[in-house]
Parts: sequence; structure tokens; C-alpha cells
Amino acid sequence: MKQLFIAVSVFALASCCSNQQSADQWTDAEIDQKIEEILPQLSLDEKVALCHAQSKFSTPGVARLGIPELWYSDGPHGVRMEINWDDWGHSHWTNDTATAFPVLTSLAASFNPDLAFEYGNAVAEEALYRGKDVMLGPGVNIYRSPLNGRNFEYMGEDPYLASVMAVPYIKGMQQNGVAACVKHFALNNQETWRTTVDVQVSDRALREIYLPAFEAAVREANVWSVMGSYNLYNGQHCCHNAKLNSILRNEWGFDGCVITDWGGATDTKESAENGLDIEMGTWTNGLTSSTANAYDSYYLAKPYLEAIKKGEIDSKTLDAKVRNILRLMFRTNMAKNIKHGRKGNAEHIQTALNIAREGIVLLKNDNEVLPLDAKTTKKIAVIGENATRSMMGGGSSELKTFHEVSPLEGIKSHFPNAQIVHSMGYASGPEIYGHVLPSRLNADSLQKAALEAVKDVDLVIFVGGLTKAHEQDCEGGDRRSLDLPFGQNELVEKILDVNKNMIFVLVDGNAVTMPWLDKVPAVVEAWYGGCEAGNAIADVLCGDVNPSGKLPYSFPVKLEDNAAHSFASEEVYPGLAAVDAANNHKETYKEDILVGYRWHDTKNIKPLFAFGYGLSYTTFEIQKADVKVASGKVNVKATIANTGKRDGAEVLQVYVGKPDSKVARAVKELKGFKKISIAAGASAEVSVDVPVEKLAFWNEESQKWEVEKGKYVVYVGTSSDNIAHTLEININ
Ligand code: BGC
Repeated sequence: MKQLFIAVSVFALASCCSNQQSADQWTDAEIDQKIEEILPQLSLDEKVALCHAQSKFSTPGVARLGIPELWYSDGPHGVRMEINWDDWGHSHWTNDTATAFPVLTSLAASFNPDLAFEYGNAVAEEALYRGKDVMLGPGVNIYRSPLNGRNFEYMGEDPYLASVMAVPYIKGMQQNGVAACVKHFALNNQETWRTTVDVQVSDRALREIYLPAFEAAVREANVWSVMGSYNLYNGQHCCHNAKLNSILRNEWGFDGCVITDWGGATDTKESAENGLDIEMGTWTNGLTSSTANAYDSYYLAKPYLEAIKKGEIDSKTLDAKVRNILRLMFRTNMAKNIKHGRKGNAEHIQTALNIAREGIVLLKNDNEVLPLDAKTTKKIAVIGENATRSMMGGGSSELKTFHEVSPLEGIKSHFPNAQIVHSMGYASGPEIYGHVLPSRLNADSLQKAALEAVKDVDLVIFVGGLTKAHEQDCEGGDRRSLDLPFGQNELVEKILDVNKNMIFVLVDGNAVTMPWLDKVPAVVEAWYGGCEAGNAIADVLCGDVNPSGKLPYSFPVKLEDNAAHSFASEEVYPGLAAVDAANNHKETYKEDILVGYRWHDTKNIKPLFAFGYGLSYTTFEIQKADVKVASGKVNVKATIANTGKRDGAEVLQVYVGKPDSKVARAVKELKGFKKISIAAGASAEVSVDVPVEKLAFWNEESQKWEVEKGKYVVYVGTSSDNIAHTLEININ
């Protein structure tokens, strides 16, 4: 079959690179003028009303002036189904479906910023059709622990990768007049005790690891809203944290709205004075019994109004918020030209499929068992619950999709001549009220059936991994273990005793251990691929698509190999069980800047699979690499040859290290990359620029970025552990 090449539409490229305001948007000056005209017309009550929820996903407008309500939706993988006005129940509308896009981890694994632009654009078009003004995403929290239940919603462990992927997502979205709400600002790196964990982290790690993606969202993508996170930083909740707010507004020049995470505000005065604009909520006091407006009790509702009236809080804080809110409105629901959007159309589904395909990472492929020949593969046993399980949940990123192609369906349609049997092999058990119960299906019988099914087949495709249930890849709880759950490892071993021709397809959004790795010839990391997941997986298995994804985070061999877990200390993860005087769990990020591959590299701890790693059905060689420094840029030019027999795409990765630095540094850090398609037998020249200022570290004494002079090492490779050329530069 014909190979599918990575197609980047001209439209995407053109718009992705432009940062200009188009004629159909108000200019900043026009917006400012309009705001000043409206402000004096608003009563104090009306102003305060703008600053807090009127329902789970809306804030009021000012009806008498024709100022519309703002409507919000999760985010980030598509437009969420409708949620009830006053509680978290699904509204059960019949017209609230959406295209389900692959999770952000899959997008990050594509290492393709143009796809991020198309992703943001498509989600925004669906948001418009569904009447949403603010989309709650993208999530850019850094992958610190593989146990974090929400890693699948984020873009991996590297701040540069997360920045480069978040910026076009936001631009693609906002060009439609839909606000992105980049979340969760900041240091929301786990779900355990997410509202009471009080993070202590050095300024360097804050600036170099945890903030860059937010900074890029503000400075490079001009994001229109930011969601404050639930957790605390240095003793203060992040939704109204004085230091974070000052960085956001004073240093980065953010002029949009800070919105709480739902229920993330905890104090009226801090909310008023530390830059929070809109309070959204999970709890509505007196909801079922009170006749009063339940939202009146919010910190930025009556208590705020009363404090202003009493002169305890300056009314200027309110005007500042209203200005920000009106600015958000003039960019979205009061834009000059409001678009109407579309959903479930062929282009959006194609975008979802393209991302799912490009995100897939080929982890192992001994003796080129993959791709499979669809014509000669006669008998396949597909084993595993994830072959058929729906993956549309996981907390607030849940979706009601038009369709969802399961891996089993995808395999069946791509191997029409094969005889295919499916056997679950294991069962995860139902989830009730946030708890996963043991399955009522008999584990022994499931295993027995699977072992029977694999007996006389040419090939076993094991589709396993994690699920979107509590304490798996799901909001509201962290995983308890790095291992695959529900007896999958044991089942794999038993199957291998019967049939060694196994391909393991992982469907998950987090690293897992693979004790059977030596014995399984091929492993594919497919993530949660959205509505077209099954087709994308099957495209890769049968070779219609040559995999080109790269891991956006390291897979440790064992949990203790991960930086945060290496300390084996509750103080480092998940925080001290004993609460402090303010009832919070103190947690100290002792690994500091050494997150992910920075830790593995610097401490010489070999990962199972390294950051940036991913195989192809062809082979690439970086034949030549040169570096020079000119005009404030480090320029790397490399020649990559496709030395195999198939067309494919490779990601040239440029890492930089400073061996004799005056501060502790990681051996190397990703500073640039480029994905390029190269035909079989051909070669291409790739050029990557790294602005010299990006070599800076955060100087804690001067509280400034500082570029040290002297020697730097530039590593040019195709993953963090596969460096083909090590070069040197001098920065004077
Ligand atoms: C999540 C946010 C989400 C919000 C609204 C919160 O619980 O942390 O990511 O956007 O709910 O659903």
C-alpha cells in the first residue's frame, strides 16, 4: 500500500507563522477605547457579577447593555459535552457531541508544531459551533512524576517542547475568536492532594522548568486567558498568588483574564488584590435548599462587593478585573466578526487522525516484525481490554464523540483477509463514584480464554495499557504504581509461553514498566488517539503510515529511577502526609531542575526509553552537523539521510549543555528540533536556530536570566540518548 507522507497544509503554515491582528478583529486601541466607554456605565453590582460564575460553565453579561454571557468549556481534547447549570451532571443533550482529538501527550509526541496549530484551529471551530467563548486548555504542566493522573492532558517533561507545541495550538485557536485558557498556572504536577499540596521549589526550577510553557503562551501566543491551579506555591494558593501574578502581569505583560480552576479560590482579599479576574466553582453553597443565588457566596461575589463597600478593598481592583473581562469579551463574544464554526466535519476528523498517526511512537521492532503484511497475515488474536474499551473519559477532558474507532475495529478493517479473534484476557472493573471496583468477570476464565485464542494464530496483538478511570490516567487521583494494572504483565508472560509472536500496543498516557520487554518483539506506544485511534494504530501496524512520533517523556525502568521518586521521601512526592498549621501538605521539589531526561542524563540512570526516542520503519543517519554562532543565534546545520527502503520522517534534536557552568546544570537540554520528511534513499539539510538568550540560566541572586560566557556543548541527535554529533561553541 502507498505510504502516507506527513502533509502540512499551506494554510496551516502560513497562519501559524503570522502573529498579526487581522482586519476582522478589533485593534488593541479600539478595545481600550470601548472598555473606557463601558466602564462608567456599569454599577458596582454589575461589575462584581462579571467576576464570578453564574453557572458551572458561564459567567453573566450585562443584559441591559447587550453585553453577552461568557461560555466556557473543557478542553483540551475537544469540546466537552454540556454540563448541568448547577451541578456536575451531564445535561444529556443530544446535540453536544464533538470530534475527539488525541490527547495532548500524543500531540506532543508528534513533535510537529504545525499539527498543533491545526489542532487548536479545529477545536476552536467546534467551540464556535457549540457556542463556547473560552476553551479550557491547553494544559502545559510539566511531567514530573509518572504517577500524575493527568499527565495525558499535558505535553511531556520538557519545557521547550511544551512551549513549542502550546504556542501554535493557542494561535490556531484564537485566530477564530475563541480564547485559549492555558492551564494550570502553576506547579500543578500531581492530583494527590491537589488543592492542599504546598509546593516549595527553587526559583531556578520554577523559571527554567515549570514556567517556560506559560511564558511562551503569554509572550509568543498572546494567550487571552490563564487558569490558576488548585495547589499552593510558597504557602499561597496559585489562583491568587502574589508572586505568580506579578511574574504573569508585570514581567510577561499578560493583559488577559486569570480564571480560577473550578473551586480554586480560597480568599476574597487575595483574589481581589493578586490578579484573579474570574472565579469559577465546583461548590455552590446551599445549592439544593436555598432560594438565593448560590453563587453569591463566592469569594469574588458578595463578600467582595461588601468589602469594597466598606472600603476594606480598593474598588480599583474591581475596575482592573472588569477591564480584563471586557477585553476578553471584545476578543471573543464581542469580536468585530463572530464566526460560526462547524463540527464533526471531514477535515476535523482528518486532523484528529493525522495527529493520532504522527503521535504514535514505535518503541521496539526486532527483526522488522512491523509493519505487518496485510495480505499474508492470516490469523490474528487481538488480546486486551483496551482493544475495545472507550477512552473518552478521564475527568474534565471527557468528550461525547460522534464516533470512536477502537483498535479492534481498526485492525479488522485494515486486515480484511485475516481471521481475527478478540479475547479480553483481563478486565479492569467498573468505576463507581470515583472508585474502581474489582471486575465481576472471572480473571481465570478471561486468562484461559485468551490463552486458548492465541494457540493457533500467526500473530498476537496485545492491546493493553492504562484506562481513563480513577487512579489510572484520570483527573482527581494519581496512579498507585508504575506497573501495568489488572494482571496484564502476568498475562503477557503466559501468552508468550504459548505464542511468542506478540506485538504490544500500549494505549495510555503515562510511562509504565515492561518486565517482558526482552521477550516481546515489537512495542508500539499509541496513547489515547481520539475518535480515529483504531485507524491510526492499524495504519501503523500495516505500514500505511511510517511511525515518526518521539517520546515526550522518559520511561524509567523502575519508579525510583524517576527524579521525584528517587528520594523515596513523602516530602518530595506526594508531600508530607502530616498537614501544617494551615492544613496543607508541604512538598519540596528536591530534584530541582533535574526533571525527566535531565535527571537520567546527569545522574547516569539509563531509562527504559529515553525522551525524544522513537523508531521508524526506515533508518536515518545524521551524516554531517555543523554549528556556528552569528547574529545572536546558534545555528545548527545537519544533513540527514534516509538510509532505508521507505519514505519516512525524522526529528532532528538539538540539545545544549554547559560543562563548566558556575551553577549546577543538566548535562544537556533540548533547545531546538525540526521534523522532516525524507524519501527513501534521499537526504536533506536541516537547519535549527537557537537564540543565544535561550542558553541562559535563571540567576537566583540577580533574579534575572543570565547567559554565561565561554564553552557550550551542542549535541545533535535523534533522541536524548542517541547523539550523533557533539560540537562545541564559544559564547563571548
Ligand atoms: C479541572 C480543570 C477543568 C475544570 C472545569 C477542574 O476540576 O482541574 O482542568 O478545566 O475543572 O471542568
